[in-house]
Amino acid sequence: MTLATASTVLVTGAAGFIGSHLTDHLLTDGATVVGMDNFCDFYDPAIKRANIADAASHDRFTLVEADIRDRDAVTGAFEKHRPDAVIHLAAMAGVRPSIERPDYYTQVNLNGTVNLLDAAVAGGVKRFVFASSSSVYGNNPKAPFAETDPVDHPISPYAATKKAGELIAHTYWHLHQLPVVCARLFTVYGPRQRPDLAIGKFLKLVAAGQPIPMFGDGSTSRDYTYVDDIVAGLLACLDRSDPQRGFGIYNLGGSDPVSLKAMIQTIEKVTGQTAKIEPMPMQPGDVNRTWADLTRSEADLGYRPATRLADGIARQWAWLQALDEPNPVTSS
Ligand SMILES: NC(=O)c1ccc[n+]([C@@H]2O[C@H](COP(=O)([O-])OP(=O)(O)OC[C@H]3O[C@@H](n4cnc5c(N)ncnc54)[C@H](O)[C@@H]3O)[C@@H](O)[C@H]2O)c1
Repeated sequence: MTLATASTVLVTGAAGFIGSHLTDHLLTDGATVVGMDNFCDFYDPAIKRANIADAASHDRFTLVEADIRDRDAVTGAFEKHRPDAVIHLAAMAGVRPSIERPDYYTQVNLNGTVNLLDAAVAGGVKRFVFASSSSVYGNNPKAPFAETDPVDHPISPYAATKKAGELIAHTYWHLHQLPVVCARLFTVYGPRQRPDLAIGKFLKLVAAGQPIPMFGDGSTSRDYTYVDDIVAGLLACLDRSDPQRGFGIYNLGGSDPVSLKAMIQTIEKVTGQTAKIEPMPMQPGDVNRTWADLTRSEADLGYRPATRLADGIARQWAWLQALDEPNPVTSS
């Protein structure tokens, strides 16, 4: 598919980190975008207003300020704007806070997803992409992680809600022929990154000469993925969401895992500063490593990440330095 066959795309979480990049890209590609977001205070809503500021002035963009837990508001938005495709990114993200508030994570990530799936079926939506997460793999003993690996042992409520989202989405394909494609995103970074996530947080702390917390001994590794590669992958998932091809699950990662220690060294190189490291214990809910097997994504979606970590961090660093007021560092 191209956007010609999905002229109106509803993007949930449009004001967030990934959602705002995706929205900008869709608008550039000629789509009409309905952005749904409740500007929740998981981090400063002013950051989200800034993320979406360019899109907000675009004549093919409509902002719907609504909470996906509000069934009537979701249904009403579908009736009013009649999207033909949905990319569902709105969620409570973040592993560690989900341990404190599993009820809230379940309400947003699961009940909210059900509201969107129901509204999509009622509204005759043709394509649906659901943002899942690499966290569903838990401490998978096998690497790289393939979509065929068992994912029955999540180690955080957040991961469990994402797996549950995939499962409930499958039933909508089976019962209603809604061709949902689930994208398992691997640690995303780049300009506008959520302030609770490591790379942006570390860049700010190093620049300020403050110590950076290093959880564990630095040997844990993540498959960092630059946000432009994720946007390309989500659009490929939208293409793939097709009644002829049915339900699908795809990894969207960098497929180049980097240890925490090596990531910090890259930050030092990019900023030209030496990091002061504050050793901290491993956090409950954090997995030891992530690593995407991209065999299926490459074969079916033509997905191939293009941005190396050092280049992506350099772009994020340039973006941070150009901000009038750097976003504050938050903990997760
Ligand atoms: N950033 C990553 O590394 C990463 C990795 C794996 C999966 N994901 C998934 O990608 C998606 C986007 O993540 P992000 O990093 O851009 O997060 P984000 O927090 O920046 O964006 C999420 C957006 O959803 C909105 N939102 C939250 N609750 C809502 C509700 N009840 N109703 C309406 N809107 C609501 C928020 O206001 C926010 O703008 C999420 O589903 C997340 O789980 C992200």
